[in-house]
Amino acid sequence: MDEDIRGRVALICGASRGLGWACAQKLSEDGVAVILLSRNKVLLAERVKELKSRGRDAEFIAADLSKINGLPSIVERADSFWGKVDILVNNAGGPPSGPSLSFKPAVWEHAFRQNFLSAEELTKFLIPRMAERGWGRIINLTSITVKQPVENLVLSNSIRMAVIGWAKTLSLEFAHLGVTVNNIATGYTLTERINELATVKAEQSGKSVGEVINSMAANIPMKRMAKPEEIASAVAFLAGDSAGYITGVTLPVDGGYILGM
Ligand SMILES: NC(=O)c1ccc[n+]([C@@H]2O[C@H](COP(=O)([O-])OP(=O)(O)OC[C@H]3O[C@@H](n4cnc5c(N)ncnc54)[C@H](OP(=O)(O)O)[C@@H]3O)[C@@H](O)[C@H]2O)c1
Repeated sequence: MDEDIRGRVALICGASRGLGWACAQKLSEDGVAVILLSRNKVLLAERVKELKSRGRDAEFIAADLSKINGLPSIVERADSFWGKVDILVNNAGGPPSGPSLSFKPAVWEHAFRQNFLSAEELTKFLIPRMAERGWGRIINLTSITVKQPVENLVLSNSIRMAVIGWAKTLSLEFAHLGVTVNNIATGYTLTERINELATVKAEQSGKSVGEVINSMAANIPMKRMAKPEEIASAVAFLAGDSAGYITGVTLPVDGGYILGM
């Protein structure tokens, strides 16, 4: 545990399930007050209740990150719980998979709002406040698709690259103000998202979902998918003071999947 992170406040997006929920648990275990954001109010309330029962400081905001107009009020609400947000974990549901030419403009626009603009807009409102306090962390959960395109994931392969370019630019502007901006290139991780992708592949190939997941894992040098906690540990590392000199990087957490040097 990074002791220095204790007392910080984190807004974690896409936090009712999967990677976001794992990040919320890890950061709160490390002494961070957490604000969980996603659409499902009932599930969020259960998650917060669970964290509070473990003696943690936790609140939630139910909101749809693809609805950009609502983001300024999310920021004000997030700030109102503990008077600040020190750590922003940008994360949302993944875009649909399918053949590259199959997506209508509305699908591209939705994916752009959900997977790029939500991060850009939330950060735009929060990062100046972090800079004023002289400390902050923006951590964007992206994907291995930013290092190596994945078949059938053209929306992710394309739109997540915009996150990388934006984050790098921002990291340069805020480096001298105590705010770091980094990305995780998430590898295959056992969450509902993987089931969703494997179900599509299973329907196309006639294999079972289990067989598809096993064959995906067989392509990973570690021969297994990540546990959500393994992504969350990397996020907690980047959020801590020990990572204070790291900014503008994209850290793969992928079991060796990305082949680039
Ligand atoms: N799992 C993997 O192997 C993997 C690998 C690389 C990249 N990724 C990417 O990492 C992200 C998270 O993955 P995951 O596996 O944790 O996915 P997941 O299990 O599907 O969870 C997605 C989370 O985001 C929330 N969410 C979805 N759409 C939202 C929206 N419009 N506004 C607010 N919250 C929203 C969901 O909660 P609600 O339903 O309550 O809104 C849920 O908490 C995705 O973008 C995924 O593509 C995943």
